Amino acid sequence: MFETDRLRLRAVREADFEDLIALWNDDRIQKMLSTDFVVPLGAKLEKLVREMSSSALFYAIIETKDSHEFVGFISLWDAQTKNRDARLGMALLPSFWGRGYATELLRFVIDYAFRQLALHRITLNVFGNNTAAIRVYNKVGFIQEGVQRKANWGDGKWQDVIWMAVLDEDWEASKQDGPDPKIVS
Ligand SMILES: CC(C)(COP(=O)(O)OP(=O)(O)OC[C@H]1O[C@@H](n2cnc3c(N)ncnc32)[C@H](O)[C@@H]1OP(=O)(O)O)[C@@H](O)C(=O)NCCC(=O)NCCS
Repeated sequence: MFETDRLRLRAVREADFEDLIALWNDDRIQKMLSTDFVVPLGAKLEKLVREMSSSALFYAIIETKDSHEFVGFISLWDAQTKNRDARLGMALLPSFWGRGYATELLRFVIDYAFRQLALHRITLNVFGNNTAAIRVYNKVGFIQEGVQRKANWGDGKWQDVIWMAVLDEDWEASKQDGPDPKIVS
């Protein structure tokens, strides 16, 4: 439905749940997304993934534009109507990390969230050891708002939970002239 330079964002289909569950069951990913125990998850996870995809304000499967390979998901969830705020979630399969895909996706989704979904804020939290994610969030304009010190146990250590957000006005101010992201039907 939506396209960036190299990726397509489309609605979730029944056939995607197997890929989504495998994604969440990859410990390199689950430990960055969850404050709960990182363990293999079956039916409970499937129920959760189905609920998350259907209740989110925006939930897209990411695939490569040229070969339609499953890359991951991106979502805006826990939307608050009055405050026009929503939480960002995303994960890509490790084989796609380090190619600038998250940066490309976030630039599109942030723009879409403010311009089309009329959000005022996008909020997220990220573990302090998630260097790649923090780098991307800073690059696309998220600003750190607070830190819950030593709030998550992972990899044998306490990790900070960092809260970040981008406001519509930050995004407006940072926008550079350029073509609008493409929307295809
Ligand atoms: C976080 C995630 C989405 C990033 O995706 P990605 O497509 O690899 O990100 P990008 O390639 O756009 O950018 C990664 C940036 O982090 C940098 N980076 C990666 N690993 C790093 C490290 N260990 N230390 C410092 N910088 C690092 C890269 O150099 C790049 O920055 P640059 O463009 O300035 O060179 C991906 O790693 C992922 O899905 N992780 C698991 C789930 C997750 O953590 N989700 C977010 C939860 S808050």
